[in-house]
Amino acid sequence: MKILIVDDEEMQRDMLQGFLLKQGYGVETASGGDEAMVLFDQNGFDLVLLDHRMDGMNGDELLAHLKKKNPLVRAIMITAYASVDTAVRVMRLGADDFLEKPVDLANLLAKIEAINQELAIDEEASEVVDVLTEQELPLQVIGESKGMKELLSLVHRMSQTPWTVLVRGETGTGKELIGRLLHLLSPRKDQPFVELNCASIPENLFESELFGHEKGSFTGADSARKGRFELADGGTLFLDEVGELPLSLQAKLLRALQEKQISRVGSEQAISIDVRVVTATNRDLKKMTEDGLFREDLYYRLNVLELEIPPLRYRKEDIPLLIEFFLVKYSFRPTGFSREAVDALIKYQFPGNIRELEHLVQRVITLARSSTIGIADLPLEIRMGQAASHGDLGSRLDDMEREMIVEGLKQYDWVQTRAAESLGISERVLRYKMAKHGIRKGGLSAK
Ligand SMILES: Nc1ncnc2c1ncn2[C@@H]1O[C@H](COP(=O)(O)OP(=O)(O)OP(=O)(O)O)[C@@H](O)[C@H]1O
Ligand SMILES: [Mg+2]
Repeated sequence: MKILIVDDEEMQRDMLQGFLLKQGYGVETASGGDEAMVLFDQNGFDLVLLDHRMDGMNGDELLAHLKKKNPLVRAIMITAYASVDTAVRVMRLGADDFLEKPVDLANLLAKIEAINQELAIDEEASEVVDVLTEQELPLQVIGESKGMKELLSLVHRMSQTPWTVLVRGETGTGKELIGRLLHLLSPRKDQPFVELNCASIPENLFESELFGHEKGSFTGADSARKGRFELADGGTLFLDEVGELPLSLQAKLLRALQEKQISRVGSEQAISIDVRVVTATNRDLKKMTEDGLFREDLYYRLNVLELEIPPLRYRKEDIPLLIEFFLVKYSFRPTGFSREAVDALIKYQFPGNIRELEHLVQRVITLARSSTIGIADLPLEIRMGQAASHGDLGSRLDDMEREMIVEGLKQYDWVQTRAAESLGISERVLRYKMAKHGIRKGGLSAK
């Protein structure tokens, strides 16, 4: 990450630069606005540290200019004293944060590291989306929430490795989608992706499904057949609902993974296989190992890497984007959701996650008589969701929490630092709760 420090005091500049260079960051300095603008044009900087009060062009003005040049640049304003006024103004101009003088270096470093981390995640997440669009891969992943971006950045990194990945998540969160994505982004992408849903196979046919069989090896085995492992050779084998795998087969799967060899049912001959195994489950496999329902050694083989997909109710800001996506996918005439309808959907908890939302949009736009879908078009459980909250302590508390947070943010003009302080929670917790409740400045609409 490249950092530009702008300060008219030489001592301060040198001190900050020295400190950040030691931390391994690329740092340049400017003594004022004009110099900063020239440097900014020459080198792309990711982050600017600006002194708020400078002779000539002050920090506010400079930041406005820099943001015009590059709206994505991050900024930390350094102010002589942090009053609510300054904070509000500085944040409005697009600074991500501010620090009081004298600068607490540990604090500065923490803020820079947080920004650095965010930038890396954003970059990797958008790389995934770029690959999907550029290569016109038959798969789209929607999600701008922090949770989703973090997930995509992990997928990106994990896809480059040969190790097994265990994808965890509630029903309908997109486990299969992520499994496919891991394959499509991997060096194996031109080789087969083979799926097996462990919940849908009768126990007596399991072994043959996985490893294949020789002709005559059991009643009904009229001809030899390859199993999924052989079919996936060179590519990826996705074992869905792996928690349903019978114990008898768990040992055989473990052996296949350890030895990179299988043998068909009815044959002693070992066949070498090169398969990357990705598994998915909505069950608590760790707990299952404790209860003796899942082999512990297999569990550790399968979750060398682990991905957890957050439920939709923890990333409610993705709901409007997903509605939009499914609208385009399923509507056969121009259709939109009213703001109230979108709001009602944001309030809903979606126990069935994205699949539930997808089916809901599909059903609602098929049945709606007008081109704008209103509250009345939504299923009863969602319309009732709001009323039902009177009886249900959990959702009532949720509603209250949401209201308090919105009030707090409004009161401090959406400056999160201040709002968090007034609510008596940390900024991190505030951001988490904002995401959870789908709270965003300017509200939400369905375009
Ligand atoms: N981020 C996303 N963007 C767009 N569509 C998504 C996203 N996540 C999931 N979907 C869609 O939601 C549906 C459910 O996803 P998927 O089948 O992958 O979930 P799952 O976790 O495997 O569900 P289950 O636990 O029921 O097997 C699919 O149609 C999938 O394409
Ligand atoms: Mg699935």
